[in-house]
Amino acid sequence: MSTPAIAILGTGAHAPAKVLTNHELARLIDTTDEWIVTRTGIRERRIAGKNESTATMAAAAARAALSDAGVTADQIDLVILATLTPDLPMPATACLVQDLLGVPARAACFDLNAACSGFIYGLDTAWAMLASGRYHHALVIGAEKMSSIVDWTDRSTCVLFGDGAGAAVLGPARGTAQILGTRLYAEGAHAHLLSIPRGPKPVIQMKGREVFKNAVRQMEDAVREILEQHGLTAAQISSVIPHQANIRIIESLAQYLGLPLERFVINLDRHGNTSAASIPLALDQARRSGRVRAGDTTLLVAFGAGLTYGSALVRW
Ligand code: ACO
Repeated sequence: MSTPAIAILGTGAHAPAKVLTNHELARLIDTTDEWIVTRTGIRERRIAGKNESTATMAAAAARAALSDAGVTADQIDLVILATLTPDLPMPATACLVQDLLGVPARAACFDLNAACSGFIYGLDTAWAMLASGRYHHALVIGAEKMSSIVDWTDRSTCVLFGDGAGAAVLGPARGTAQILGTRLYAEGAHAHLLSIPRGPKPVIQMKGREVFKNAVRQMEDAVREILEQHGLTAAQISSVIPHQANIRIIESLAQYLGLPLERFVINLDRHGNTSAASIPLALDQARRSGRVRAGDTTLLVAFGAGLTYGSALVRW
């Protein structure tokens, strides 16, 4: 029996209103707009307000995705929230989101931590659960309040991150649009390169250069293998939505694929690295601005702490 086709039926996003520019950061720590833009491509990021949490941002993105998909909260029977900044260690923030949305009790709701690869891990997991026929409509959300786990005195990390959320509704394919494939990877041997050690105030610690080198290799592997698996060439990909960590990582991926940078959806200049929210946020902006259209084949590719990495191919 062939598995049923599952598609992304709608997307949504939420970005906090407060903008923190490089120039503002340069008044707080020893850095410059020029250094940040040259090394990363980031110009500004959004910072959650006092009353915004991972759950509230996730719920806002999910509401927009439900409306875009024409699916009601009542139809959702699976909520997967990818995050490394849950509101609490327990309960799962996905359950808080369920309550905010009014998703019924028969739904399975859980958090998933694959850091910046979280949305692709969530997509793979939801796709498999829906294809099994045991679940029908899923919300896959990436939401992060990175500002709460950043060391605001460490200039080598605090300039990189931002807050936000993005969401997708998955369900039975309505036309030819469908998820074509996903690939997930993890290299625990590199776990120490990017972590939040326990401590009185747990904050991100990162060996930036090492993460950078691994990210380039991992993104290339994840892309090459998924294209090979589906008998596609890079030229057949309409758009690439990479994890938004550093423009130089994206440029080297573009060069490797032999694709112009214009083929890549890039919003890191305005949002910085929003970890698990990065891909769904960029995806929603790309769909709403007409960058991603019906019939397109889009490649999603991510890397993050773990080190995890992965890719997905989606036809619209
Ligand atoms: N402003 C000014 N100077 C700075 C800053 C800053 N914000 N940060 C670091 N520097 C200085 C350093 O102190 C160093 O000075 P020194 O030479 O006197 O020692 C110099 O700049 C160079 O520092 P490097 O760390 O070597 O700079 P690099 O070119 O590697 O860029 C960066 C650093 C941007 C962090 C880069 O390594 C990078 O992007 N790495 C990947 C990070 C990433 O993608 N993380 C993803 C996290 S995903 C997740 O799962 C959460």
